[in-house]
Order: sequence, then C-alpha cells, then structure tokens
Amino acid sequence: MAAPPAWWQTAVLYQIYPRSFCDRDGDGIGDLAGVRARLAYLRWLGVDGIWLSPIYRSPMADFGYDVSDHCAIDPVFGDLAGFDGLLGDVHDGGQRLLLDWVPNHTSDRHPWFVESRSSRASAKRDWYFWRDGRDGQGDAEPPNNWRAAFGGRAWTWDPTTAQWYLHLFLPEQPDLNWANPAVAEAMHGVLRFWLDRGVDGFRADVIHLIGKDAALPDQPPDLAEIDLVGVHDHPSAHPLLRGIRAVLDDYPGERVMVGEVNLGSPRLLAPYYGTGDELHMVFNFSLLWAPWDPLEWAARIAESEAALTPAGAWPVWVLSNHDTPRHRARYGGSEGRARVAATVLLTLRGTPFLYAGEELGLRDADVPAERRVDPGGRDGCRAPIPWDGSPGHGWPATPWLPWPPDATSTNAATLADDAGSILHLYRRLLAARRASAALHAGSWALLDAPPGVLAYERTAKDMGDRRRVWANFGDGAAECSADGRWTVQVDSSSPAADDHRVWDGHLAPASAVVLGPAG
Ligand code: GLC
Repeated sequence: MAAPPAWWQTAVLYQIYPRSFCDRDGDGIGDLAGVRARLAYLRWLGVDGIWLSPIYRSPMADFGYDVSDHCAIDPVFGDLAGFDGLLGDVHDGGQRLLLDWVPNHTSDRHPWFVESRSSRASAKRDWYFWRDGRDGQGDAEPPNNWRAAFGGRAWTWDPTTAQWYLHLFLPEQPDLNWANPAVAEAMHGVLRFWLDRGVDGFRADVIHLIGKDAALPDQPPDLAEIDLVGVHDHPSAHPLLRGIRAVLDDYPGERVMVGEVNLGSPRLLAPYYGTGDELHMVFNFSLLWAPWDPLEWAARIAESEAALTPAGAWPVWVLSNHDTPRHRARYGGSEGRARVAATVLLTLRGTPFLYAGEELGLRDADVPAERRVDPGGRDGCRAPIPWDGSPGHGWPATPWLPWPPDATSTNAATLADDAGSILHLYRRLLAARRASAALHAGSWALLDAPPGVLAYERTAKDMGDRRRVWANFGDGAAECSADGRWTVQVDSSSPAADDHRVWDGHLAPASAVVLGPAG
C-alpha cells in the first residue's frame, strides 16, 4: 500500500509578493498586517498555504532578494511579533506558511560581507568569492568571463582590498561560498531560526547556484554572452542539498522545501530531488515559458511526466510569478484563455502554485518610465492587488507601483460579487480539486483530441475516481468525442455546471470543462 500523500502534495499554494499585496500602515507598500487582514479571503478562495516572497531586513536593491539580516523583518513589512501573529493566524485557519530563503547570495550590507570585504585576512574572507584579476591584470580584467543576471559582468572590483568579488545578480548581491562549511552551517542556522518559530517550509531562491566549480572556470565561448543562472548545473550542489534536507527532516510536521532551479528542461530538474533526500519539490517552468498552443502544452506536460514520474519526483506547476509577465498578459490578454489556463493548471498531477492576483485575471500594469524601479524590468507583474472598486482600491495610500488595467472592475470585491467571474472559477476549481482524489493525487494520461484542444484523464485507481479535462485553446468552437457518459463538474465559461449536465462534446471558443463519470 502506497504511503499517503504528504500535505504539500495535495496542496495548492499561493505566492504573495508582500510589497504589492495589501497595505495596512499607509505607506503605499504592502506589509505583514495586510497579509493578515486578507487571510479570510485566502481561506474563502480555498488555497492550502502561502509562500511569502522575502520579508527580511534588506536595502531593497532587488526588493528583498538582497538580505542584510536573515533573522529580522524589514521595518517596511512589520516586525517579528507581527510575523508570529500572522503565522499563528495562518495555522489557526488550517493553512501553512512558507518563507522565501535566499541561499546563493546576501546583500552587500550584510554584516558577513561587510566583514569579508574589510581585509584579506578577515575570518569571513572565504565566505564569499574573492579573486585577483585574470593573469595578474588587477582591476583591468575580471577573473573569468561570467555574466550577471541583470546585465554586465558577474564581478565587481573592490578597491579596499584590491580584489574582485563574485555576484551572479547585482553587485549589491555578492555570492556566498557554500564550499566553506561555516557558510553552510550559518545558513542552516537561518533555517532553524524560522523552523523553530513554526514555519512550514521554504521556497529556496535560485538554489541550483549554490554548487560551484571551485576553479570558477570560464564559460565556453558559445555561452559566454549569457548569464549563468539558466545553465549552471554543478554536481557539488547535491551534497549541499542533502545537508539542507537533513535540517528540515529534523523537525516534525512534514516541513517542506520547494526550490527554484532555473534550468529549462524537466530532465535537468529531476536530479535536484535526489533520491527523496534533496528538494521535496522543484519549480517546473516549462509551461510558464510555453506559447499558447495545446500541442506544446501536451508535449511539455508529457515530457515532465516522463522525466519526473519514474524518478519519484513530485511535479510543481506554475504559470506566473514575480519575475515574469503575468500569463494572461502573455496569452494576449483574453480572459477566456486565462480561464482555460486556470482549468489546466489546477487539474494537472502535481502541486500548483498560484501567483497572487491571477485569480482576479490580472494583467501587467503599464509602468511609465519614470515609475520603473526594478533593475530586472519586472515591475509590470508586481502591480498592487486592487481589493475593491473605489479610487484607492482598498489601499490607504498611493501604492509604490501603478494599478493593473481596469482595476475599477477587475478587483477582488467586484469579482467576489459575481458568481460568473474568473475569481469564482478559481474557487470552484480549487473545490473540485480538493474533492477529487483523481485530481489531487491520480495519474495523468493524454487523450486524443481535435485540433486546438488539449485533453487528458486523471485516474486514482485505488479510490475508484476518474476525471477528464477538455481544454479548447482555439478561438473557434470545437466538437469532441464525449466517449461515454460524462457530467460537467466545472465549466470555465459558466457557473451553470453546478447542475452536472451530461456533456455533449461541445466546447465553446476558449473554454474548458472538468468532467466526472455520469452516475
Ligand atoms: C530569483 C528571484 C528573483 C531574484 C533573483 C535573485 O530568481 O525569483 O526575483 O531577483 O532570484 O535573488
């Protein structure tokens, strides 16, 4: 008999970008009190847990992904007492909380780096990567040809000690040297600090990058012009991940880590699960980068199944996050397509992650040049969540970024009042997923479908449960073979599926259905 699934395997998780979620203290930046105030909404929606993007003390060069104190809350978000209150409320509501953990780098203002850069003899010198210029060329030539993720080279010359330091992201984000056991121990201590407070786990930022070839060799000429993040796949990451996993496994309650491993192909992700002794889950961005084409989606889902299932690796699906234009915007802005995408995302095998606001069908804000603040050009998808139709949209002050389009009609309160809205579709899909063993735990198999349509079956044999999903990506109607008697559980374009009508094989343009066997 197979072991029952862990909580995070049957869960749907919801990413909150705290700056943009909900402001309570009136500075135009979201905060922990704001998250706390919206927990009732998240329970109503039906998500099982929250991943909070970084809330630690930070100079905000990369909006929190540059941490200067891992064990303090940045004052813009609140304080530790407020965090403990939030965590208590999350748990009281039967939900879970994951924090972002940024292991590859710190802020250049972190006391570790301040000490490291102060002298070549510093006890923390080797906590970061300090090197001479190539072939004795001092500040004229960096040690290797690596490029940084936001442009420019991955090295900055530091005149204090006349050496270069490595940063795969901004110069304000120096890379930690995980080959030094003291670094690993210190970062394990950070995990323990939050685990002791009761968090349920972590989302680990670009964690594949912590394994580096100690020789820091040049990238081959064909890769020399691209940044390392999407290609860096060094075996030394794996023993480090086993050490990290052991820290989590020391705690009761199925604490979990989902890793951001930015390597394109699912085949390259499977090793990061180890043999059940590394990451519990790894983000799979293959749909996030897929064009709006059902053949592409089918191929990518099948490829992920083939790469992950035999390895016992639990899949993770995501369509949007704080680094990428929102999927509705990517698919041309149509709400119908966003509804089809939601239906697929929430009926695949594996754990889906929602990005706050996708349940409202948000598109990216159009951010004028003078309001752009992100060094990576990602402001549009980080627009504030409009909570209601009033001019301030439920925010006590003008938010740090402009509103997404049509916030007067596209906001949480207005959509909650409309049973046919995309918000209610998400809610219905979440409920359908929770209620069906086939949807939250069953196997996945592709079905034959007419052009423009993606179709698959989910089966939980042990539980005698089956579901079928038919998703019409096209802008014309599609006629499908209903193949037996199936009733509509969820219809992406109408709430009237509640009456469980027998499906006739007809799919309206840009619409999807979730079917159950007719009684
Ligand atoms: C990850 C984060 C991104 C951040 C980068 C550096 O990709 O998702 O927002 O800028 O890592 O920490």
